[in-house]
Amino acid sequence: MTKEFDMVLAKPFVKWAGGKTQLLDKLISSLPKFRSYHEPFVGGGALFFSLFNKGLITEAHLYDYNQDLINAYKIIKEIPTRLIEELKSNIYVNNKEIYYKIRASKPHLSVKNAARFIYLNRTAYNGLYRVNSKGGFNVPFGNYKKLSMPSAGLLLKDSFALKNAELHAGDFADVLSFAKKGDFVYFDPPYQPLSKTSSFTGYTKNSFTMEDQKRLARVFSELDRKGCYVMLSNSSTELIRELYSGYYIEEVLAARAINCKGNSRGKIKEFIVRNWKLQPQQKKLLNKELVERN
Ligand SMILES: C[S@@+](CC[C@H](N)C(=O)[O-])C[C@H]1O[C@@H](n2cnc3c(N)ncnc32)[C@H](O)[C@@H]1O
Repeated sequence: MTKEFDMVLAKPFVKWAGGKTQLLDKLISSLPKFRSYHEPFVGGGALFFSLFNKGLITEAHLYDYNQDLINAYKIIKEIPTRLIEELKSNIYVNNKEIYYKIRASKPHLSVKNAARFIYLNRTAYNGLYRVNSKGGFNVPFGNYKKLSMPSAGLLLKDSFALKNAELHAGDFADVLSFAKKGDFVYFDPPYQPLSKTSSFTGYTKNSFTMEDQKRLARVFSELDRKGCYVMLSNSSTELIRELYSGYYIEEVLAARAINCKGNSRGKIKEFIVRNWKLQPQQKKLLNKELVERN
């Protein structure tokens, strides 16, 4: 492997609402030693790629309801060079008319579908992913000065990071079929809205309902009973406090980088729920000092 390749860090190849980049240190510093990694709402996969860079992933299962996103992950994992070639063709340019043409297209080839997905993500307004009731992508043109596509180096590095990852397009509850004792599961679901209009939960055709939040809490408990380490991020609301009252809840401040309106940026409180207790000194631990569950 070349030095250049070693120096590139794996990181999200999409801009994704709710991306966890700024809370990563906080999330990672508290982790126990685990076997397989599971992320049922993977989105951009910020935590997965960061753990990979630190040498903490041996095997992973990544899941998301968004089929086009999972298709892009699969293509990057299996045939990154074909995707790189496709993205190099002069189809994917920063032009309003072309954007709407590509937005309206439905490529049959999965490589073309992945390229379209990445292009739309980088060109659409505020990096949003939003679909109409028929599943058609409906975000307007972003009008960015410059189109910034993921580099070939990044796609190759992400491909390498994904080599030991299984990719699942489906509901978060699918994790129950794969997670085993000693595995670590991180849930970063669409957050429970703080008020009816404040939060953006429309990533996929069906938005994430209160019933889904309750169902998620049941899946969390089931994984806990199996002996998995389980961690969840969500908003700091009474419902979330109630649903996870049997577990350890930490309140943290986080900046919201993207929301549905692209405004209201600022720091807000959110919860990190864990099913293991943080030792006082563990808050300061580095990864190399990870503790084992007894
Ligand atoms: C908050 S985002 C995850 C952000 C991610 N952690 C990151 O770093 O980019 C939530 C994700 O959940 C997915 N999702 C929504 N409903 C789902 C469901 N029922 N099952 C699985 N994934 C779902 C969305 O497609 C979206 O990618």
